Amino acid sequence: MNSTIETILGHRSIRKFTPEPIEHEQLQTIIQAGLAASSSSMLQVVSIIRVTDSEKRKQLAECAGNQAYVESAAEFLVFCIDYQRHSTIKPDVQVDFTELTLIGAVDSGIMAQNCLLAAESMGLGGVYIGGLRNNAARVDEILSLPGNTAILFGMCLGHPDQNPEVKPRLPIDVIMHENQYQTLNLDTIQAYDQAMQDYYANRSSNQKQSTWSQEVTGKLTGESRPHILPYLNSKGLAKR
Ligand SMILES: Cc1cc2nc3c(=O)[nH]c(=O)nc-3n(C[C@H](O)[C@H](O)[C@H](O)COP(=O)(O)O)c2cc1C
Repeated sequence: MNSTIETILGHRSIRKFTPEPIEHEQLQTIIQAGLAASSSSMLQVVSIIRVTDSEKRKQLAECAGNQAYVESAAEFLVFCIDYQRHSTIKPDVQVDFTELTLIGAVDSGIMAQNCLLAAESMGLGGVYIGGLRNNAARVDEILSLPGNTAILFGMCLGHPDQNPEVKPRLPIDVIMHENQYQTLNLDTIQAYDQAMQDYYANRSSNQKQSTWSQEVTGKLTGESRPHILPYLNSKGLAKR
């Protein structure tokens, strides 16, 4: 196994950081790694807002549902869809298609993961913060986003002050189908539920009694941030 694969397979989110800053050069390399990612039609539709202002960090931590690491991480980056650049270059571009919002979300995810892996390869750690979308409009206001841009998620980065276990994933057979969609084998899910139950019960922090099926079906039974479509529409995105 090469060191790139080792870094990828060793991933686990880090939510506790030492106060040590990330060096300027390191951060530049992390962002450069993000910029090197593929980009749909080379649209380059992502903006990253680095939040260094401690008051704004505090407000963003609250917006994300009081996630303390948004404040305590050495770096906090907010990834945004950005069609403002394109509409500045040519004001009559049509950026309100849902397809273009999907492109922005996909490209942002790809860029962000390059950043996180680059950071992890340097011994740093991090975690994505989708919780920002709990209060998308307020986050947008704090960061003074213009029209045709929208927040997607944040990312905490820093020196790890914890060493959590790697979380088991669904087996390859469940995720990868051959030539056509294959019906879900519930026995495989049962085995995975057992593995996740053991993981939850024995992990070093936040232990609980639950299975993967219980967790995800619980989450998908309620509404999922129904304010997001109106938010995107208010930014001139995903209207048709
Ligand atoms: C887009 C995205 C948003 C996420 N948002 C949050 C978040 O707001 N807070 C948090 O603690 N973890 C968040 N996570 C981390 C996931 O909970 C985590 O990746 C998942 O449980 C798997 O654990 P692992 O990353 O340690 O393997 C997010 C992950 C992704 C990909």
